[in-house]
Parts: sequence; C-alpha cells; structure tokens
Amino acid sequence: MIQMMKLTGKQQLVNIIKNRIKKEGSISFRDFMDIALYYPELGYYTSPKAKIGGYGDFFTASELDKAFGELLGKQFVEIYQKLGEKNFQIVEIGAGKGYLAYDILNFLRANFEDVYRNSEYIIIEKSPYHVNLQKEILKSFDNVRWVQDIIDFEDESITGVIFSNELFDSFPVHLIRKINGKIYEIYITVDQDDNVKEILKDPSEDIIRYLKELNINIPEGMTTEINLDAADYIQKIGKKLKKGYVITIDYGYPSAELYKYYRMKGTLLCYYKHRYSENYYENVGMQDITSHVNFSALNYYGKIAGLELTGFTDQAHFLTNLGLMDIFAQLQEKGDYESYERLNRLKTLVLPKGMGEKFKVLIQHKNVENPHLKGLEILPYSSERYKL
Ligand SMILES: C[S@@+](CC[C@H](N)C(=O)[O-])C[C@H]1O[C@@H](n2cnc3c(N)ncnc32)[C@H](O)[C@@H]1O
Repeated sequence: MIQMMKLTGKQQLVNIIKNRIKKEGSISFRDFMDIALYYPELGYYTSPKAKIGGYGDFFTASELDKAFGELLGKQFVEIYQKLGEKNFQIVEIGAGKGYLAYDILNFLRANFEDVYRNSEYIIIEKSPYHVNLQKEILKSFDNVRWVQDIIDFEDESITGVIFSNELFDSFPVHLIRKINGKIYEIYITVDQDDNVKEILKDPSEDIIRYLKELNINIPEGMTTEINLDAADYIQKIGKKLKKGYVITIDYGYPSAELYKYYRMKGTLLCYYKHRYSENYYENVGMQDITSHVNFSALNYYGKIAGLELTGFTDQAHFLTNLGLMDIFAQLQEKGDYESYERLNRLKTLVLPKGMGEKFKVLIQHKNVENPHLKGLEILPYSSERYKL
C-alpha cells in the first residue's frame, strides 16, 4: 500500500473529506470510501457519469451479452416452479444500468408468459443516476417497481428470489493491518499540502468480533479489507426473505483463500477508464474503488438470519449447468458475423482465469424443501477455494 499520496479528484468532494478530517482529526478508510463512492450527488456512484461499459470505467457480465440474463432467467423459472407460489418476487439489488433486468424480463415475457405475469420485479438501487437509467430502459415492462432500501420491506415479506451481480464488491470496507501480532485499523488524515497520511488505530469492537466469529487469523504484515457493511446487509436480506433463494454473483473467495500470504496487500483496487490502480486517494468521486467479497462471511452471517447454504460455485459452472453450451452450439451453427462476435464475448464469461473462475455464485435458501437447483448440478473440483 502506498503511504503518501495527494488527495485529488472532484474538488467539492475533496473539501468535504478534508472538513471531516479537520473536525474529527482522522477518518476511517471505510468512511473515506463511503464518501468517495456514495456521497449524495457527488460520489462516484451517485453522480451522473457513465461508469459501466465502453465509455465508463469497467464492464460487467450483463453488459457483455444477453445470454447472462437469459440463463439467470432460466434459473428463476426453476425457482418459481419449485416454490409453487403465484405471487413471485424477483428482487435485484444494485441494478446498474438495468441491462440485466432488461434481459431477464425480456426472456421471461417471451418464453415463460405465466412466470412473467405472476412476477413482480423489484429493484433496490442506491444511485439516483442509475435509477433514472433503469427507468428509461425498463419502460416497456409493466411489472417493475423501485424500492430505495432493503429495510423498506417488512420482515419475512419476500417470496421468490433476491439476487445481485457485483453489489457487495462496491460496499465501503474497513482496512486492517497486522503488525507484531496486533491488528490495527487504517484511518486517514491530510496535511496542509493535501498529502494523505494513513494512521493506525485500535480496531473497533465490531472488527474484533468479525475476525473472531469467522475465525480469521491474517498473516503478519498483511493489509486487508473487512466488509462489515456486507455482513450487516446479508442479515437484512435474510430477515426480509419469507421463502425462496438469495443468489449472489461477485468476485471473491472464502476466508481460507482470501487471506493467503500471497495477498499481503489485500484486494482493494480502483478502476478509472478501464485501467486499474491502487491510487485510492486520487480521482476521488471519479473512479470506482472495489474489493473482493468474502463469501465465508456472507454464508456465516446469512445463517444467523435464517439463510441456509444451497451451494457455492463459480460462474463458469453455474452458467454451463444452465445451458450456456447450448447457446454456444446455436451460435456456432448460425455461423454469421454477429453470432461469431457473440460467441467471442460469451467465452469471456466462462474462461478460467477470467470471469468464469474469478466470479463466484453463492446460493442460499430459506423455507424451501429439497432446495437443490440446476445451476449447482455440476460443481467445480472441490478444493480450499470452494470451502466456505
Ligand atoms: C458495480 S455496479 C453493478 C451493476 C449491475 N449489477 C451490473 O451487473 O452491471 C454496483 C451497483 O450497486 C449499486 N449499489 C451499491 N450499494 C448499494 C446498496 N446498498 N443498495 C442498493 N444499490 C447499491 C450501485 O449504485 C451500482 O448501481
């Protein structure tokens, strides 16, 4: 980690951070990241600027090809049939530009009219900029509504599926470091020349509890992220679900893999115009900051809120189980230029060392008998990388 760096970016946001530091002496890295990404109207996600796609800073699977949404749609159809409830809810959290919702809804309307008719598609989105984009792209569907926060639902009121793609990686995280066997939390402060200085403080009770509950013992000298917001959020999801599934797609690992000695600097990265860096304190409000998800934590804290583990796999296996190879075959058979282009894009979703292996799929359920799903039929070779 770089110790001294200038705080640069949107001047208004830089001033807000400096004022907080002036008042409080220092702020936790988590609070810095929260302001940088989500400060109303100025943060990276809350301000009107393209983030996802060619003109943005990064791509997501839903941007690549409609097959991603169609295969997820297939999984939702199986869930719908399994639950046997007429009032079915599909809740997407953090829907970005709304492409995934569009592909799922389009697929259901065209192929499973009954599921489409009996479903309500609910989007929980924190960014007003993204809500506007979503409303525009989804205007031809009559069963979509927006909810501001998961806490706006009554407890045990959702029957169906609650899912997200690349949500938890964008939550603000605490940074910790181990020195001489002791855990510290990283706070930041700035001098009169706007140089950022990281300072080490005792960790909060919540961080100590998290490390204890998850049995995490990081190696000496390691700096890593602690996503307390994710631990809290999965519990909220669990409480709101009455019957059904939670599907979380994101990059990350179980604890045993995440805190290996070869990740001594953790997994925190910034994305700016399709380039990544570790310059967290530059381009504040203009670049994405993200970290890998700890899936052991989602499993552990989900259980506390009544979510049982259905299975944990990677994106390649999940999509293949749901029929990606059939789509490959159809495109190959067509053989025209557009199909060839789609084939190439689709390969990105499943390539090992690419999105196929890096992205994981965690499925949890509540009040479902015989919960096994098609997406989990064939699982990756069982290794430490998949032990939660
Ligand atoms: C990295 S983007 C992923 C977008 C989309 N799922 C996709 O696959 O393209 C993260 C999205 O989650 C939203 N978000 C972040 N935290 C959130 C929260 N607590 N509640 C709802 N949405 C949130 C962001 O505004 C953004 O739209």
